[in-house]
Amino acid sequence: MRLDRILREAGVESRGEAVKRIRARRVTVNGVTVTDPAAHADPAADIIAVDGTPVAWRRFAYVMLRKPAGYVSATEDRGPTVMELLPASVRRPGMFPCGRLDIDTTGLLLITDDGALGHFLLSPRRHVAKTYRFTCDPPIGEDALRALCGGVDLGDFVTAPAELAPDGGTLPASSGEITVCEGKFHQIKRMFAACGSTVLTLERVRFGPLTLDEALAPGEWRYLTEAEEEALRAAGRGTPEKRESGRESPDRR
Ligand code: URA
Repeated sequence: MRLDRILREAGVESRGEAVKRIRARRVTVNGVTVTDPAAHADPAADIIAVDGTPVAWRRFAYVMLRKPAGYVSATEDRGPTVMELLPASVRRPGMFPCGRLDIDTTGLLLITDDGALGHFLLSPRRHVAKTYRFTCDPPIGEDALRALCGGVDLGDFVTAPAELAPDGGTLPASSGEITVCEGKFHQIKRMFAACGSTVLTLERVRFGPLTLDEALAPGEWRYLTEAEEEALRAAGRGTPEKRESGRESPDRR
């Protein structure tokens, strides 16, 4: 792989900046100074250093963002996007938010440039579980709980059974956690609306094997740990493709 690309993927903020550092004789490969940005190296095997400090190259970047309200889950939009919350050294070509949270929904968002894994996790056939903390008004009672857990007819589709855990384990409840294995547009809000309640706040706290890192403040991010990356890949490998017989619309998140 070209040296300037390796440096870019190791967190140097742009290809131009990587080229500058290489030409300035600041970069070594296995202890030997290299001044040609087009020179090739093997980032998995060679020790590549800038100013004597080895760089941490990543084949793919996996970022957990605690999405704040007010940001669009997209790479480009008229308004501010979640990508703008990442520093230039972390943003990479091909990075995208893995699924969409509404502009007012907060919480766990995976951002990656691993297109295959992203596609995998978002495939409607994969049934990746997503858990949201909600508050709602009016509080939901027995009937709503039964409907939400059994499947709600939203007109264009009937939702798959959800799991709902009211706070305190009692009903009626105005807050709790709901887990769904689909991700249709505005799904949770529409499910509650169909049961006569309005979602006031929604925060995603789990996405597949990932759990929101509560140490992150809204708008903060961190790279996934190796264990989290492995859990994601394992979730991908372990979920059988289940082709549904009926109509299928693409998951939105
Ligand atoms: N369901 C919604 O209604 N909105 C989201 O952002 C996520 C799930």
